[in-house]
Amino acid sequence: MSRKAVIQSIGHALPSKLLTNTDLEKIVATSDDWIVQRTGIKERRICDGPNEGTGWLAVGAATEAMERSGMDPNDLGLVLCGTVSGDYIWPSTACMVQDKIGAHNAGAFDVSAACAGFIYALSNAAAMIESGQVDSALVIGVDSLTKQVDWTDRSTCILFGDGAGAVVVKAEENTDRGLLGTVLKSDGSGGKFICIDVGGSRYPWGSPQAEGKKAHITMMGSEVYRFAIQAMGDACCKVLEKVGMSSDDIDLFVPHQANLRIIEAAAKRLSLPHDKVFLNVHKYGNTSGGSIPLGLYEAEAEGRLKKGMTVMTVGFGAGLVWGANIIRW
Ligand code: UT7
Repeated sequence: MSRKAVIQSIGHALPSKLLTNTDLEKIVATSDDWIVQRTGIKERRICDGPNEGTGWLAVGAATEAMERSGMDPNDLGLVLCGTVSGDYIWPSTACMVQDKIGAHNAGAFDVSAACAGFIYALSNAAAMIESGQVDSALVIGVDSLTKQVDWTDRSTCILFGDGAGAVVVKAEENTDRGLLGTVLKSDGSGGKFICIDVGGSRYPWGSPQAEGKKAHITMMGSEVYRFAIQAMGDACCKVLEKVGMSSDDIDLFVPHQANLRIIEAAAKRLSLPHDKVFLNVHKYGNTSGGSIPLGLYEAEAEGRLKKGMTVMTVGFGAGLVWGANIIRW
């Protein structure tokens, strides 16, 4: 029997500060009605002050996942973090977590795949476990994009929230659990649809070439919307085909929580009934890399995701990147 990467435990972290649509009405020209109708979002959690951010959320989620696994951090082989909003451009958030949790024998690196960060990071970790390179991994999905939005731009600032989720994954033999299949896709020609210009080496902060460029998230919403509708369905169909399953075999669908309309379109294309579709976009908005592991965490906590169930996750984001995982929980 082949070696599989099996999720042992899950953790999460959320800031306590709440930002409702009514609060946003006081900041930009928007309304609760518009936001709910176009996105399904009612409120989101946002990091408060300089001490709350991606590193803080990542360590919180990782600590909970590690405690629940019962594993000695010294036995961990790898820390992988899917994020695009690390406390620093470098060093990585994964290295910060590795230090804080005392994983003295682990390698650590970040995976930059925006809202698909957890999908990409988990598939990387599973491949390294299945190949025998490591026996275990801590995989985190986290972002605090509310630190990167322009609070005068109503087309973006209403969308995002902050959050994190983390899983401990271990090698197991003779099991039908674990990551069953993955599809990873990209199209860099769409990079301009959602990006931050300033802060990298092309337009460094304070440089003459950065003048007039945006240091916050800019997005062509309708382009991203059209891409997302197509990408979510395509990735799910491909990953189902890859593992020889149909959507009837899926017990729970945990999609990236960016927009209720996008999720509903994907669920319709896959003929998935409402009770198999996990939703928390109304509570947290788009938490980017945090979105999928946060969904898995809540689904498990609510008793909707139990050991042995088959769960399909799918995400899309800046890059452009997208992908899907099928996991037997
Ligand atoms: O993880 C990837 C992250 N990104 C996404 O997932 C974004 C995907 N895109 C979307 O979810 C949708 O495109 C949005 C929710 C961002 C926008 O919805 P839309 O139905 O595509 O609206 P729109 O951009 O076509 O704008 C329609 C109107 C415009 O007014 P006019 O030009 O028709 O007069 C906007 O100016 O709505 C206006 N508008 C707003 N009105 C009230 C844009 N933002 C707001 C707002 N409140 N917050």
